[in-house]
Amino acid sequence: MAHVIITGGSSGIGAAIARRCAARGDAVSVVARTPGPLHRLQAELAGRSAPVAVAQADVGDAAAISDAFARLEVTAGPCDLLVTSAGVVQPGRFDEQPPAEFEAQIRTNLFGTVNCVRAVYAGMKARRQGRILMIGSGAGLIGIYGYSAYCASKAGLVGFAEALRLEARPAGVAVSICFPPDTETPQLAAELPLRPAEAQAIIGGGGRMSADAVAAAALAGVERGRFAIYPGTQMRLLGLFGSLAKPVLAPWYDRRIAARGRR
Ligand SMILES: NC(=O)c1ccc[n+]([C@@H]2O[C@H](COP(=O)([O-])OP(=O)(O)OC[C@H]3O[C@@H](n4cnc5c(N)ncnc54)[C@H](OP(=O)(O)O)[C@@H]3O)[C@@H](O)[C@H]2O)c1
Repeated sequence: MAHVIITGGSSGIGAAIARRCAARGDAVSVVARTPGPLHRLQAELAGRSAPVAVAQADVGDAAAISDAFARLEVTAGPCDLLVTSAGVVQPGRFDEQPPAEFEAQIRTNLFGTVNCVRAVYAGMKARRQGRILMIGSGAGLIGIYGYSAYCASKAGLVGFAEALRLEARPAGVAVSICFPPDTETPQLAAELPLRPAEAQAIIGGGGRMSADAVAAAALAGVERGRFAIYPGTQMRLLGLFGSLAKPVLAPWYDRRIAARGRR
């Protein structure tokens, strides 16, 4: 029985991954900050064949994550698959966003992921076995108006994942990163009212997916040993051809943003 640790597993994409892992018989450990949703998910998954453990910790706090993961590994065994889904987004134009909001997104999305990887990586390397699935974002593949902090955090994750993959592979550890499009979760519901019209002009309405469809694509990608996992056609095109298309896309975005007539 595999032990899967999922950060941000109490909601949205992480919870959908937790449900799928529990359904296939994995021992599931879920980490997040707020006890209520953690215990609700634990109660929902109770009675499945494998145990479900929860731990309260902030991924931005390296010591708390190290302690929580150590306790979870004592309970359910060494981590076979780490899923880092904990993440936050706060849209805002760069010059209007308080520095604390900018930093919170980098701290949670980038350093939070790094802290969690660090907590399992030495053990995986020693066992020459383990998989790490980072939940990135399409916002890590292309800049989006009003999302400078979020894009920086998710683009940073791409560099981290690409470099770590090269180091981890010879040690028997597989690294993947998934790039979800807009996904129907509490995070998206809270974000949409704050999304600038200029951002919506770039993102468009297409490609939105359910959390379960993203979870299915992410887990299938890990099973196939994929590094980059693109749920849906829009993300696949962006991932495979985005860097070639950017010289064309950037002026097109400029025109769409100008058409919104801001200021
Ligand atoms: N929804 C989308 O449209 C979309 C698109 C692309 C990528 N993503 C990415 O997918 C991931 C999951 O997003 P989601 O939409 O599923 O969000 P969600 O429904 O808001 O769930 C976020 C989860 O992360 C946890 N979390 C947040 N900050 C944390 C912290 N500092 N420490 C520990 N846990 C923390 C939350 O629990 P607590 O608040 O209780 O800690 C919750 O369990 C994120 O990395 C997000 O950036 C989402």
